[in-house]
Parts: sequence; structure tokens; C-alpha cells
Amino acid sequence: MTISTVTATLSTTASTGSAPRLLDTRTTAATLAVDDATDATFRRAQQRSERIEAELHVDPTAYRVVTGDRPTGDLHLGHYIGTLANRVRLQNAGVPVTVVIADYQVITDRERPGPLRERVRALVADYLAAGLDPQRTAIFPHSAVPALNQLLLPFLSLVSVAELHRNPTVKAESLASRRTLGALLLTYPVHQAADILCCQGTLVPVGKDQLPHIELARVIARRFNDRYGTVFGEPEALLSSAPVVLGVDGAKMSKTRGNTIPLGADEDQTTAAIRAARTDGLRRITFDPVSRPSVANLLTIVGALSGREPARIADDIGDGGASALKALAAEVINESLRGLRARRRELLADPGYLDDVLLDGTARASAAAGETLERVRAAMGMNYFGE
Ligand code: TRP
Repeated sequence: MTISTVTATLSTTASTGSAPRLLDTRTTAATLAVDDATDATFRRAQQRSERIEAELHVDPTAYRVVTGDRPTGDLHLGHYIGTLANRVRLQNAGVPVTVVIADYQVITDRERPGPLRERVRALVADYLAAGLDPQRTAIFPHSAVPALNQLLLPFLSLVSVAELHRNPTVKAESLASRRTLGALLLTYPVHQAADILCCQGTLVPVGKDQLPHIELARVIARRFNDRYGTVFGEPEALLSSAPVVLGVDGAKMSKTRGNTIPLGADEDQTTAAIRAARTDGLRRITFDPVSRPSVANLLTIVGALSGREPARIADDIGDGGASALKALAAEVINESLRGLRARRRELLADPGYLDDVLLDGTARASAAAGETLERVRAAMGMNYFGE
């Protein structure tokens, strides 16, 4: 559940570059300028990501992946297609993966954290059901790793308040939350740098909206190394080639909009949600993300889950209209998620096991973060009690 309530002014093109540009009425010359700048950064990151994928193909251990989610609600089909499947792919290719459950990030844009215990367990169940293997991949809540949180203090000394105010994702989130900018919202990208750097992460799979955060983590690593001697590698972003999935109302799929297909929904609920999805009245199905975004979205989902080109799927449906497209989409989604959903149910019935997985992941993350903090404090001359 990406923290950014990607308002249309900021997140525009899908990572494939083929999605429509959605500009809302608040678009001004200033936001367009920001957008052009982020577009250039985005293209560079895309090219770099392709090279990194090639490197990983040769040596899967060339990078350490750190990734994470906020426990704000159930994972949905957008997460599965956009990020979960990719994490599982990297893990299975032999890339070391660490998954942070960013529970402190929940209170960046809201007053109450919600039922964290249940949400964190459900998140772990979703991860494991999707194929993350707790033997290989450490999963931990960042609140449970004191050394990670302590890194925030030296890191805060390395950035200026003005730099934090310039972060476009924070700006968008602040606008979307309709509250005055809280100090935690302003500084959470620094805390996220601690998530990444505490485990010596060097590669972070992200969507476009998170690129400014990765840039900040690089700046922090670089400044620390320059000031105190090299402790950190500079982490890089790995943009996924997975398409951005919209919700059943044609807007970005997000829990707050109530337009998601939750991974935990049953088959009937899924079929009903797809049947109610927005489409248009044209009988002939074509893949046209610009003028027919809702139809294109269903084709994108089917394509992503079945490994086929959306345009070919449209050709197959031909004049079958929206009802044929929806029937196909519901069937493909239910089939693709059947195994995951069964495992998810089993896992949720065994909360003791889920807690053990978290405890074990936390122990491993604590060991890594403790070691990093030792090195940080030694580099800063704070090693008072050792040799
Ligand atoms: N902010 C990220 C999101 O909303 C979640 C996150 C927290 C994260 N810590 C992280 C992602 C560390 C990558 C690495 O999607």
C-alpha cells in the first residue's frame, strides 16, 4: 500500500510509459515543471533498472534488496501485480531480499495507527501466500528494531529542512491528507533511508512515486561516507516493468477509494466487483489506454496475470463487448489467485506461526542493524566502551 495517495498531479505515466497522463484540475505550470523534471529522472531510472536486471541475471547476489509496505490495510491485486510478484521473482532468482513492515509510517498521515496487530499478521500471510519464503527472506516490523530507529538521529543531521520540504511525494501526501504537515510526514523519507541502510540495502524495487525517497537515501549514504568514512553503499531504485493497475472505478487502485480487488476476497466477491467495474458501451473491445482506460485496465490485468499482450486479448474478445471481457477477467483473476487464497486462509488460521516468522525476521534484521549502528557510531567517534 504505497504511502503516496498519488494525486494525479504527481504520478502520471505508468512504468510502461503507455498509460494515460491523468492531470487533474489543480495542475499548474509549477506542477508541470516538477513533473517534467521527475519524468527525466524516471527515464534515467528506467534505463538504469534495465542494466541492473541484466547484472542480477549474471550474479543474483550483486545487490541486497530492501523493500516494504505500510500496514494500512489488506493487500490487493494492484500490489500483487505491481510489487509482490516481483519480490517473489527476485527472491527465487537468488537475490537476498528483506521486507520492512513500515508500521511507524502508518502515522505519518493519520492520527491513529488502526488495528496494527491484525494488519501486520495479514500482511505476513499475504507475503507468504504469494511465495515469499521466510527462510530466505527476512520480514520484520521496523518499530521492533531499535538500532534501525536510532540511525534516524545521525541521518537527520545530514539533510536540511529545505531539502525535506522539496520532496514531491511528501508534498502530495501532505495535500492529500488535508492536515497540516506533521514533523513525521516531513521526516519519514529519512526514516525510510534508515530502513534501507540499516540492512546495507543496495537495491530498492519501487514505483515512480518513491524515486525521491531513494534519491534521498543515496544523498544520506554519500554524505555520511564523506563526513565520517565509508560505511554505506548508495542504494539504487529498481523500477518494475509491471503495469500500474487501476481500480474498478478507473482511478488508481487504492484501499481508501474502495475500488480494489483484495487478495483475500473470495471468488464470488471478485466476480461481482469485476462485473460492477466501469467500462464503456462500445461492443468492440480494443486496447486503448488513452481513450478507453477502464477497458484497457481489465485487459492489462488479464495480460499481466496470463503473460499475454493486452492487445491480443482484445483481438480475441473482438465484438464480445464488456460482458465477455469481464467474464474473462474474473475467471483469470480467480484462477491466478486460487492457490494464494487457499494458502492465505491456512496461514491466517495459524497466527502463532505468523508471529514466529516475524520474530525470526526481526532477530535477523536486528543483528544486521546492530552491526551497522556499531559501525556508524565507531565512525562518528562514539565507540566509548569497546577496544
Ligand atoms: N514508503 C513505502 C511505500 O509506501 C514503504 C516503505 C517503507 C519502503 N520503508 C521502505 C519501501 C523501505 C522500500 C524500502 O510504498
